[in-house]
Amino acid sequence: MSKINDAKLIFGLLASLFFAACNSNTLQLQTIDNVQLQKNLLKVEVLAKDLDVPWDICYADDHSLFIAEQGGAVSRLDLATGKKKQLVKIAEVWRKRTAGLLGLVVHPQVQKNPYLFVNYTVKKDSLLIINRLVRYEITADTLKNPKVLLEVDGYTAHNGSRLAIGPDQKLYWATGDSYFGEKAQDPKSLNGKILRMNTDGSVPKDNPMPNSYVWASGFRNMQGLTFSDKGLLYTSEHGDAIEDEINLIEKGKNYGWPAIEGKEDLPAEKAFALQHHTTPPIKSWTPVIAPAGITYHNGKGIPEWANSLLLTTLKGKSLRVIKLSDDGKSTKGEEIFFEKHYGRLRDVCTDRDGAVYLATSNQDWNPSPGFPLPGDDKILKISKADEATQKVLRAKEPETVNLVSGKTVYQQYCASCHKDDGKGVLGTFPALAGSAKVKANPETLIPILLNGISSEQAGAAMPAFNFLSNEEAAAVLTYIRQNWGNKASTVKPTQIKKQ
Ligand code: HEC
Repeated sequence: MSKINDAKLIFGLLASLFFAACNSNTLQLQTIDNVQLQKNLLKVEVLAKDLDVPWDICYADDHSLFIAEQGGAVSRLDLATGKKKQLVKIAEVWRKRTAGLLGLVVHPQVQKNPYLFVNYTVKKDSLLIINRLVRYEITADTLKNPKVLLEVDGYTAHNGSRLAIGPDQKLYWATGDSYFGEKAQDPKSLNGKILRMNTDGSVPKDNPMPNSYVWASGFRNMQGLTFSDKGLLYTSEHGDAIEDEINLIEKGKNYGWPAIEGKEDLPAEKAFALQHHTTPPIKSWTPVIAPAGITYHNGKGIPEWANSLLLTTLKGKSLRVIKLSDDGKSTKGEEIFFEKHYGRLRDVCTDRDGAVYLATSNQDWNPSPGFPLPGDDKILKISKADEATQKVLRAKEPETVNLVSGKTVYQQYCASCHKDDGKGVLGTFPALAGSAKVKANPETLIPILLNGISSEQAGAAMPAFNFLSNEEAAAVLTYIRQNWGNKASTVKPTQIKKQ
């Protein structure tokens, strides 16, 4: 063989090696939007589509994404090639509304500990619904040796659930109150709790109570669970009609539900807080946004998002970037991305380079008008871009909606006559629950509040509340229109102002 041929051969070999290496890393995806941050430009790409409600997505350190779809399928998506492979379809999953295959977490050192944990709803018979936590071993193309670690009560709603593995290598499970709020305060019940266990399902010796999985209590329906780089644990939680929450979880603490909703601002809530040493949320939202998956971002790849919680929302149909204080114990600010753009967003996670993955939820039980979009549900990838090739989106600041809580105004000014439960006092103070006047057009309801009524026939008068601010008046009317079974539209401060 001549020298020239040798050189050609070696060059050819090197070139093909070079291109092979490039090909496996440069997965070509379709960019659908760009996002301008303060300095950096991002791109949003479609990583996967036509999924069946991807409820939980989890990044594994072999550079793959594990996906739990609500119907019971668990898949692995190779982030180098973009190929997705179904590993199992869990047949015993019972799927209805918000029940089904919910939480999934892969061991953070998956190459050393090839474990995957899932929890899902099972209907044992017509009356008995449970949530089952199962550990699988991961192999190249399947999951094997399922081991049931724990079962807790389930229901048709309020099943939680999310899973996380802490820096202490323990498994954490955020369970729902299974629609019975009292369970969240019952130390013997495993519902409405953060549970902590060893990865074989045994109770760690350093849990707050001996032989109990309970790590923290007093939760309603958590939909997000994540550890920060500092090892702090955060949850997102659905409030009732008001007060969605972000909580910072600490060992043995009580977060108040059902006695306390959101901030400890009502007299009864303050009394309960004092007696039970409860911990308030670090952030709450009224009106509600339906917070779902949550993850911590350390700023790698996207410096603007350093030390933030990324939160997907369902009702809010957005990604929220919530800046944390340096010690991680409070929040500093909030930005809203993609509002109503991709629809309901169910979960979020990040990879080793700081790229962010979002799972849409437009094929679930509660789709919004205008959705699903073609190809839903999808997994979207957000990462840094060099130049804009698509429409450039920007963050939105949260509206400074009345921070006044309607419940607080009601308790302060109305409950003395109309009572906490809105049932009033027969023959004296009319019930607001079910009242046609309450549910009527705001234009006829507002004057009742502002001017009062003194028809005499009731033997008591309704005082005029024209001293309330527009925000307070709007909040209290919204509160009475959306509680005790009333389901009428919100009232806005601008509507009060007009009158
Ligand atoms: C001192 C007692 C009292 C307080 C406090 C009071 N109300 Fe009333 N309210 C009444 C009485 C009495 C009526 C019935 C008046 C009538 O029909 O003559 C009434 C009627 C109403 C109605 C009409 C309901 C119906 O079906 O007829 C609404 C709505 C209402 N109140 C809202 C409020 C709100 C909101 C507050 C607090 C901001 C409030 N009220 C505080 C006594 C009170």
